[in-house]
Amino acid sequence: MGKLSELLQSADWKAEKHVPALEAPERVAKGSKFQVSAAVGKSIPHPNQTGHHIAWVELYFHPQGEKFPYQIGRAEFSASAASAQGPDTSTVYTQPEIAMTMQTDKPGTIYAVSYCTIHGLWQSARELQLA
Ligand code: FE2
Repeated sequence: MGKLSELLQSADWKAEKHVPALEAPERVAKGSKFQVSAAVGKSIPHPNQTGHHIAWVELYFHPQGEKFPYQIGRAEFSASAASAQGPDTSTVYTQPEIAMTMQTDKPGTIYAVSYCTIHGLWQSARELQLA
């Protein structure tokens, strides 16, 4: 039986337009709020067409030493040029960029997952330390 994890693709976001460019502090104070952002197409823009766009991005946090990750949040990008006149007929687009605020008492790993309507699932990750 296949595993979903085998379908998660990764690469350097600077060279691959589907990978979320994940930004967060390297080190935060225990329990203090901090911002995490993820932008798809930051270096190479991804198409934003009705039939080919980034549909959503999710953020997860896996605290060091724990078994399961936590979902931090999910954003869906609903406007991709469709209108009552049909696909690719409007000038309204959602850009696949998000920013969320979180806090934790543990160090760990932050993950971002994006979904392209044609090219599937893409992930990126970065480590978070406590000050
Ligand atoms: Fe794509």
